Amino acid sequence: MKILIIGRGAREHCLAWKCSQSKLVSTIFVAKGNHAINKIASIIDIEEDDINGLLNFALSEKIDLTIVGTEKPLELGIADLFIANGLKIFAPSKKAAQIESSKDFAKNIMKECGIQTAAYKTFSDYEEAMSYVTIKGAPIVIKNDGLAGGKGVVVAMNVEEAKSALDLFLNKNIYGEKKVVIEEYLEGEEFTFMCLVHKNRFIALPFSQDHKRAFDNDLGPNTGGMGAYSDMPQINCYEEAIKNVVTPLIEKLEEIEIPFTGFLYAGLMQTKDGIKVIEFNARFGDPECEVLLPILDIDLVETILNLLDESKEFTSHLIFPISKCLGVVIASKGYPENPIIGHDIFFPENKNILIFHAATYFKETNFISCGGRVAVIVAIDDNLITARNKVYTYIDSMNLTDDFFYRKDIGNNAFKYLNN
Ligand code: AMP
Ligand code: GLY
Repeated sequence: MKILIIGRGAREHCLAWKCSQSKLVSTIFVAKGNHAINKIASIIDIEEDDINGLLNFALSEKIDLTIVGTEKPLELGIADLFIANGLKIFAPSKKAAQIESSKDFAKNIMKECGIQTAAYKTFSDYEEAMSYVTIKGAPIVIKNDGLAGGKGVVVAMNVEEAKSALDLFLNKNIYGEKKVVIEEYLEGEEFTFMCLVHKNRFIALPFSQDHKRAFDNDLGPNTGGMGAYSDMPQINCYEEAIKNVVTPLIEKLEEIEIPFTGFLYAGLMQTKDGIKVIEFNARFGDPECEVLLPILDIDLVETILNLLDESKEFTSHLIFPISKCLGVVIASKGYPENPIIGHDIFFPENKNILIFHAATYFKETNFISCGGRVAVIVAIDDNLITARNKVYTYIDSMNLTDDFFYRKDIGNNAFKYLNN
């Protein structure tokens, strides 16, 4: 079979790596990919938002299955376009992808099917939003209504911070949209729950925990994610998450004729009143993908094809991990606001480590950084603490210059629940 993966980051590198182990797969293409992916797949020079270009490529290459990693083509309707042209694609329709691309849409659906989430209000008017924040006080959360690569969210611990976010989002229009969701601040432990979904069928994956803030101890701005691990010794509420979040959501989407297909991402908070949803995404999490796929004993392509095959009986189920996994993101100095790129980075050979490249290119003999998140260093072990030690020992061996930084506390929330 020929597989096309859409995206260019560490998540797509990991998807290509997992697909390369499938007994069904002969060829993998990644558009637009990155140089490191070249070792296991062919990288194709088509931008992720050029959905017509991708369609022409998929038709001419007779691609058997397309897997979409990144969100932009989903919002543009790549799934609708591919399906209309007789191609198989594991991705949500443009309408279903609104679960991620419009916070307002997601919040309304949750309200309709009784999924617990933070109370919220939507604003387009700057003055109205400012008075609302003055009345509500802090902590409070300001979210841009639209895609912003995980960066359009400000968790404001004081009113000044909230007001400067409103200025950026509604006055200066930094994300091009003019709509914000202002949300109640939720307190608790955050975790990620992802499922492979087709209509009302799903395969639930182990919980993982991302580290969204840029710096240690959850300080600094929100990022796309600075590191993750799976599974989580401290959270085990699979039944509740399936019964109260995933099932009502996918059933509601089917009922309103916007069925979901693809990777469904639920960002959840375990609060004192039970699980509440922070956000849904219509794609695999990044870097959560990189710490999940290595510990799933499945043929990913076969699993997706079975899920999509409506002629076959299917029982929704949970997959258990075969080991533990932890990954640390190496980022460019200045990420997320202003990453300084163009620096050499060395990846010594090490068979105990998996390296998924996010933003590098190869020049002569070296990799050079070309984006905010540069690579994810991943280790697998029966013990999460040993996996962590393997990752940090490897990072030490990279002799990183000050052009890069990484968090040194990935996994710390879990370690107190484990024996050393
Ligand atoms: P989002 O893009 O909606 O996932 O938000 C990014 C990050 O901001 C989340 O992963 C949380 O860490 C934090 N966050 C978002 N919404 C809330 C909330 N209502 N209460 C507390 N933290 C939040
Ligand atoms: N790591 C968070 C996300 O992929 O949205």
